[in-house]
Amino acid sequence: NDLTTATILIFGASGDLTARKLIPSLYDLWSEGYLCENLPIIGLARRSKTDEEFRNEQRDTVSQFTRTGTVTDEKWEQFSKRLYYREVDITDESDHVHLKDTIEAVERETLGDTISKRVAYLATAPSLFYPSVQALSRAGMVPKNTSEEWLRVVIEKPFGHDLESAQELSTQLSELLSEDQIYRIDHYLGKETVQNILLFRLSNSIFEPLLNRNHVDHVQITVAESQGIEHGRGGYYDRSGALRDVLQNHVLQLLCLIAMEPPALFSGEEIRDEKLKVLKTLAPGSKGPISDWAIAGQYTAGQSFGQAVPGYREEERVPADSRRETFVAMEVMVENWRWEGVPFYLRTGKRLPERVSEIAIQFKHPPMNLFTTVECDGDICSLVERKPNELIFRIQPKESISMKFSTKRPGMQYQIQPVTMDFAFEDAYHKSLPEAYERLLMDVLRGDSTLFTRSDELEAAWKFVTPVLDQWEKGDHTPEPYYAGTWGPSGATNLLSKSGRRWRTPS
Ligand code: BG6
Repeated sequence: NDLTTATILIFGASGDLTARKLIPSLYDLWSEGYLCENLPIIGLARRSKTDEEFRNEQRDTVSQFTRTGTVTDEKWEQFSKRLYYREVDITDESDHVHLKDTIEAVERETLGDTISKRVAYLATAPSLFYPSVQALSRAGMVPKNTSEEWLRVVIEKPFGHDLESAQELSTQLSELLSEDQIYRIDHYLGKETVQNILLFRLSNSIFEPLLNRNHVDHVQITVAESQGIEHGRGGYYDRSGALRDVLQNHVLQLLCLIAMEPPALFSGEEIRDEKLKVLKTLAPGSKGPISDWAIAGQYTAGQSFGQAVPGYREEERVPADSRRETFVAMEVMVENWRWEGVPFYLRTGKRLPERVSEIAIQFKHPPMNLFTTVECDGDICSLVERKPNELIFRIQPKESISMKFSTKRPGMQYQIQPVTMDFAFEDAYHKSLPEAYERLLMDVLRGDSTLFTRSDELEAAWKFVTPVLDQWEKGDHTPEPYYAGTWGPSGATNLLSKSGRRWRTPS
């Protein structure tokens, strides 16, 4: 454990992210001995609140979301003494001048001295990202990064609303911060199973030689959610939609990790250089109109796990005539030597039958079909079409890697029966995987930006999706309806069926 002494400032400390993710993750890091003693965590927000009130509020959510066991009175007592709350109105310039004094006073109380190593986590509304950095700058808290003093600013998504706004925010931030001070979070990259994708590819010589156009028929990336719009999120979601909320960031990052070339070194810059090359070569799956390769859907009332659930337009704070997509499916190509001609099918949506994220690589069939394939239920077998080999990275839940291949069914005939070989993290390691935010917070403290998105990557991703957003938002485009609890609209099925393919049903 390398312990770094730093002060953690959380802007937007009254929000959901702070309560559900940040403080529980900091608590778990502390529980496992990763945080140095007395490291102060200062929540900053507009509401007036005492330290005691802030601590009591956080205890409930930490108890609910921690993964490291029961939060006993004794443990909470030890942990919570490092939690502070200070009232700040970021939009009020007169508050900025006091910011430094306020923070240094807490540092003196906890550490006995002031410390110029600080992480500022912006868990605020996007409109406050730049004002928060301005406040830090006006307060004289943006030193040039050295080993003695530094400021690292963590920025939540959404980073911009489209290409233009993302570029504008980058320009504003670059006036006050250097790129190595900015940590743009995509929490998917903090997931253990997502990090494993690269490791798996680059450390097993039996798989990597197969991952190219000679052997791969196509790749499917699914980020499915069974939930609808969570309480209080309707306003945000209706401005955002599935393409901005999940595909532009999480799904494209997964695509990069599967499609990128091996970096020359395992370093943050080299990995991000390779991911950027993938994003720059992304192309539509068809030369025709956008509707030929990008499908938007919106859920209507249906069933989720046997319960009746409302349609998107009936959700809290969603306009009754909303045209916002809650589902998106795309066929895209990575136009480079390795992947020429291999379609990547991407889909994400709310109110699908299950919560499951996975990448499935489907391999080409052998050149000749010499055997029949059967699927059997006990002794009763039926002939089915031949099944391709598949390599599946299950990111969540039940994190695993599985291979599907063919074996001879025992008996007097040459018949193929497809089988699955599974590696499940839980069975192999018998311990819970760290939360994405734990890993990412730790990396910020260590100054490792490998798992954070660089501005050029982000812009390349926006550049690819912005024409689709423009078409959907500026025209009279209406997303295709699908019943809640189903796998999306028929347009998504057609995207694959036109080339004789079909979506996997994650099982
Ligand atoms: C967030 C989106 O980035 O990712 C949410 O804003 C979505 O709408 C969430 O629910 C999904 O993350 P996870 O880790 O639950 O798959």
